[in-house]
Amino acid sequence: MTADVTTGTATPRDTAPGPNSPKVQAKIPHPMREANFVPKERYYSRELHELEKEHLWSRVWQMAARLEEIPNAGDFVEYEVAGRSILIVRQRDGSVKALHNACRHRATELAKGSGRFPGGQLVCPFHGWRWNLDGSSSFVFMDSAFEPECLKKEDIRLRECRVEIWSGHVWINMDPEARPLREALSPVADMLDAVGVGNMRVKWWKQVILNANWKMAQEAFFEGYHTLQTHPQLMMGGGEEAGAMMSEAIEYTVFGNGHARFQGGAFENEGWTADADTFIESGRLLAQGQDAMTLDGDIRVFEGLRNRTDIDLSDFPAAAISALYEYAEGAGIPMAPLTDAMRLWGGDIFLFPNYLMLPMYGNALCYRSRPYQDDPEKCVFDVWSLTTYPEGQEPERAELLGVFDKDDTEHWGLIPRQDFSNIEGQQRGLHSQDFDGLRLSSKYEKSIANMHEEMDRVIASNM
Ligand code: FES
Ligand SMILES: [Fe+2]
Repeated sequence: MTADVTTGTATPRDTAPGPNSPKVQAKIPHPMREANFVPKERYYSRELHELEKEHLWSRVWQMAARLEEIPNAGDFVEYEVAGRSILIVRQRDGSVKALHNACRHRATELAKGSGRFPGGQLVCPFHGWRWNLDGSSSFVFMDSAFEPECLKKEDIRLRECRVEIWSGHVWINMDPEARPLREALSPVADMLDAVGVGNMRVKWWKQVILNANWKMAQEAFFEGYHTLQTHPQLMMGGGEEAGAMMSEAIEYTVFGNGHARFQGGAFENEGWTADADTFIESGRLLAQGQDAMTLDGDIRVFEGLRNRTDIDLSDFPAAAISALYEYAEGAGIPMAPLTDAMRLWGGDIFLFPNYLMLPMYGNALCYRSRPYQDDPEKCVFDVWSLTTYPEGQEPERAELLGVFDKDDTEHWGLIPRQDFSNIEGQQRGLHSQDFDGLRLSSKYEKSIANMHEEMDRVIASNM
């Protein structure tokens, strides 16, 4: 298949299409012109923000909820983006619908946040019109006072958005003509399936409001190049040399559809040489520093290995992974088969336009970024820690623990606080005199350009 970079509709499956045509560039304010440079205005321009609202958020598949946020019929959770509110509602038959959150009478929003519709009815707080969970009208108060043509069943039915489920996530798309979800998530959904993300469930979910554009916030997690300077504690005292080695070992790939990945080098020969102390300590820093990816339970399994004499511990990381699998099997925890796909452990998949998954040992850390209210310089940043529970022991309902200040040491570990602080600093720095734009490494930061280029194509193709 050839790439049609004019419309963005026929990007090939696995390869990124590269720079945009002059036609696309001409339609976009502050367009991407060079692969290694992002104009600063892309992070605060009101004009681009308006185009994103009109032609990006209304057209792309977005991760709107986790299925376990709405386990039972009548449960709902609201997804808000770019001034639009959508209710994700569990149906009686177990399926999910996404309903635009506006009364068909005089527009009142029907629900906020999350909860359960009692009796399976959505009730408007203004004049009490009611709907079934599927959006069909069930009651209009004093309906004889309306002209019949004002109350046509189809007109007063709640408006629906496209919904598809992948890997425990509910994805929505406001565009009725949108291509199927799996096509839009290609090829990265397959990569995540291979490491078992479909078996994972929410351990916790938190939010932070950041003083930064939504793109700026997510780009802080597109590369491992910042680790040495931002998260020195993760270098285990290895300093610059270790940082350089680590950076070299990471492989960065960009794909069509705006997606990207980074992961470790080839499984066989990457030379995992960490001894028990180093391996366990680095895991402990992740567990304590973010309570995600590596968890306390994993550390206990690793610790339990130290005194084992019946197995070969000369390659400690390999032994530790075997021990995790052995533990999971005994505990009834479904783990993905141990294959070369596990190179993604400790790596990162970006799913265009605004979702990231970082899988590790049957766990994952996930991030979602979107504009906050109508401000291009603020975003809502969601963070989930996922893990794989023994079958039948998954927690009942996942709920947002809260919106926590970026400096809140009780609710955010050291690692996210270090990242959040960079993000706001970048947004402030953008406005400094004579700063012109972001200078990207063609090796470590190409996924940033790839995302921006895809965004321009999507917007231009819908204008
Ligand atoms: S606005 Fe909803 S019933 Fe009147
Ligand atoms: Fe980081």
